[in-house]
Amino acid sequence: MLTVVPADGPLLGHLKVPGDKSISHRALILAAAAEGVSRLGGLGQGADLVSTRAAMERLGAGIEEGKEGIEISGCGLRFDEPGTVLDCGNSGTTMRLLTGLLAGQPFGSTLDGDNSLRSRPMERVAGPLEGMGASIRTNGGRAPLHIQGRRLAGACHALDIPSAQLKSALLLAGLQAEGLTEVSEPRASRDHTERMLQFMGVALERRGLTVSLGGPAIPQARDISVPGDPSSAAFLILAAVLVPGSTVTIDGVCLNPTRTGFIAVLKRMGADLEVDTSGESCGETVGTITARASELIGTDVGADEIPATIDELPALAVAAAVAKGETRVWGAGELRVKESDRIAAIGSMLTCMGVRVEEHEDGLTVEGDRLRGDCEFDAMGDHRMAMSAAVAALVADGPVAIAGAEAADVSYPGFFKVLEGLRR
Ligand code: S3P
Repeated sequence: MLTVVPADGPLLGHLKVPGDKSISHRALILAAAAEGVSRLGGLGQGADLVSTRAAMERLGAGIEEGKEGIEISGCGLRFDEPGTVLDCGNSGTTMRLLTGLLAGQPFGSTLDGDNSLRSRPMERVAGPLEGMGASIRTNGGRAPLHIQGRRLAGACHALDIPSAQLKSALLLAGLQAEGLTEVSEPRASRDHTERMLQFMGVALERRGLTVSLGGPAIPQARDISVPGDPSSAAFLILAAVLVPGSTVTIDGVCLNPTRTGFIAVLKRMGADLEVDTSGESCGETVGTITARASELIGTDVGADEIPATIDELPALAVAAAVAKGETRVWGAGELRVKESDRIAAIGSMLTCMGVRVEEHEDGLTVEGDRLRGDCEFDAMGDHRMAMSAAVAALVADGPVAIAGAEAADVSYPGFFKVLEGLRR
């Protein structure tokens, strides 16, 4: 249990955030799959990435600590049979991407995870992979997953949900399949896998919402410097926007447009945000974000904006809770199958802080107001809920006790220290 007290002065600071979690997963997986030795710098250190790294080592990738990061000796897409269950912990990205990767390997493997991960839908990955010839046994559509590797054939997939994890699993299977693998999505999800595959020399064709590759194709080792995580930065940006008198600058953040929807939404709500592009790294745009304290107004966030804001919606709900007027979010049913049911979790967080919030099947309506403190919120093991509650507490009228606050370590170890360090 951690108690966060309201800010009694501005937040001021100039800092960096840990390496992007999504890009770090892909760097670990693709460097392990590649031919040759890759050096990886700036990787995120959260528990989800510990799960991916351990799985790749177990599958035969050589990983050594280097001077400025780690060195991975890739297997050239010929992994070792793991001989034990691969524990994906809390990480949906680890489980779904590895399912695609292992579906084409000539051995059997089992993927499992914690209770949250065991409750999340996996049939959405297993079904399309079976269409490529894979053999995957699920527990009623959920983990544990038993994958019997087979020879795969390329296939065309028209996805009915925008999911980067699903798209990436199919592309990783496609690397090992004979012929063309094509994936079309209804809306653009994050495209880090496509960018990193191209960076590692795999020929991809991208047309609108469709991506295709011809298999078999083996990625080539590269040196990768992972940019900062915009989803981690989002909590510090929000804190600066909410606490009067604050200015916080974050350097080296990934500015991939499939990830920065929260910047557009916060700006529309009246936030004073300055975004400057400074360069590029591993096919990703990188830059600096400065956030200053601002008065906010409510807004509408519809289905088109959901993929690029999906992980930031808990933070945006806190912004909505103090904004003038109403904020409506719809088309966000995927929130119900994240690390927790985030629609319910946001509802209970804001209700316990005295805010009027209506939950819908695929979204929320939040009536902006003051945030009441002197309450206790259970993050239910969800890192993004723990960090959202901490930022809300900064502008509540009393302390907020957060049960399960240590969940923040899943994506941002040290988050609470960093937040405290910004107080003046
Ligand atoms: C991720 C994709 C998204 C996102 C998750 C990370 C990824 O999930 O919510 O935090 O790294 O590919 P979905 O693919 O389920 O939308």
